[in-house]
Amino acid sequence: MNSIDDRWALRCRRLKLLTCFVPLFLALWNSASARSRPAGQRAAENNCIECHKRADGRAREVVGLHLKSTHAKVGCQQCHGGDPDDYDEAKAHAGTFVGKPDASATLKMCARCHESPLAQFKEGRHFPEHRGIPRLDCVTCHGAHTIGTPSETSSLAQVCIGCHGLEYLPALPPPVQVMLEVADDLRSGLGKADREGRTVSPDLIERRKAIRHRISEIVHPTDLKIGLEKIPRILEDGRVLKEQIERQK
Ligand code: HEC
Ligand code: HEC
Ligand code: HEC
Ligand code: HEC
Ligand code: HEC
Repeated sequence: MNSIDDRWALRCRRLKLLTCFVPLFLALWNSASARSRPAGQRAAENNCIECHKRADGRAREVVGLHLKSTHAKVGCQQCHGGDPDDYDEAKAHAGTFVGKPDASATLKMCARCHESPLAQFKEGRHFPEHRGIPRLDCVTCHGAHTIGTPSETSSLAQVCIGCHGLEYLPALPPPVQVMLEVADDLRSGLGKADREGRTVSPDLIERRKAIRHRISEIVHPTDLKIGLEKIPRILEDGRVLKEQIERQK
């Protein structure tokens, strides 16, 4: 089943517009050219990327996002499986391939390299299924292809508010909310320094990572008991670090 073509066919039927046939033709032509190896090209290092760069829509867009992310050195196949040595789409998307993982497949995918976050997540209140509430997995909070380089407008604090404080769940305690705002502030502070061409010292980057780790140890196991005791120190260290990042030249 080919989703690009299906989507166009559906849209054409709905709109009953003759003009749809032009983009439909282009879409078919594009995906056909995406599937054949460019003339004269040797087996590429990673055919997932080589072919996806030439595809269209979302299949192409993810390549740019992925190559800017923390996972740029992780091949597509290390998350999705499949065979990066084959340039044939059907053969590349075969075997262990997982296209769109559901929540439990996502947990398994990420845990190949992140065992301890999964172990903590399984201890917490986010792991069991709750009736009427979408099941959480790693991607709900982290995204999939923009990890480490989320858009400027994305916010961890906002992710939580998407469920907590709505009719079906009470709001999170204020210190937890402020902690997530600190995580957002540190990230945007580093992003701003980068855009302004200011170099942040390795020491500050290490301290940022240490705070990230401390926050994750509260959020992954949804630990409010010991967590609430640890938060004041995290907020204080985060505030000091934020000022130091702002002062970097
Ligand atoms: C020869 C071209 C080609 C190669 C090689 C290829 N892909 Fe794809 N892939 C596509 C196209 C085109 C789509 C868009 C969906 C469609 O129409 O089949 C796609 C879709 C996907 C999807 C989305 C599936 C979904 O259900 O939405 C994932 C994930 C994916 N590819 C990963 C990979 C990985 C990982 C590899 C390497 C092991 C790979 N692809 C190799 C062309 C390719
Ligand atoms: C860190 C793991 C990871 C890596 C690396 C990764 N993906 Fe994905 N990808 C995912 C997850 C998880 C999803 C499902 C996203 C969701 O549920 O929102 C996904 C979804 C997709 C989709 C479906 C469209 C979408 O946005 O949901 C395509 C296409 C895709 N990936 C292609 C690729 C290609 C091509 C590469 C390499 C350039 C790649 N992925 C690298 C984890 C990864
Ligand atoms: C093949 C191994 C591999 C897989 C699979 C993988 N990661 Fe990673 N991840 C890494 C590496 C390597 C780093 C960088 C570690 C570092 O620099 O300290 C990383 C870093 C991260 C970070 C910290 C990034 C930052 O800069 O803020 C998060 C969050 C993360 N991964 C989430 C995920 C999620 C969610 C998935 C599944 C969708 C996933 N990872 C799948 C290898 C992997
Ligand atoms: C409810 C939201 C949420 C979910 C679900 C979640 N995380 Fe996290 N994760 C966080 C937060 C918040 C941080 C700290 C981020 C920061 O300070 O910028 C974090 C940090 C991390 C880090 C960096 C940890 C470190 O030691 O530096 C990794 C890796 C990571 N998460 C992986 C995962 C994986 C894998 C899963 C799925 C098993 C997952 N996360 C599920 C919210 C979540
Ligand atoms: C998709 C919805 C959803 C999102 C998004 C979400 N949560 Fe939750 N959260 C839940 C559900 C469901 C529970 C379990 C409630 C229960 O067990 O009664 C929960 C429980 C918790 C608990 C335990 C509360 C307690 O009383 O013990 C904490 C802490 C928590 N979440 C923190 C967060 C943080 C921090 C974020 C954002 C980084 C977040 N959550 C994002 C749905 C969500």
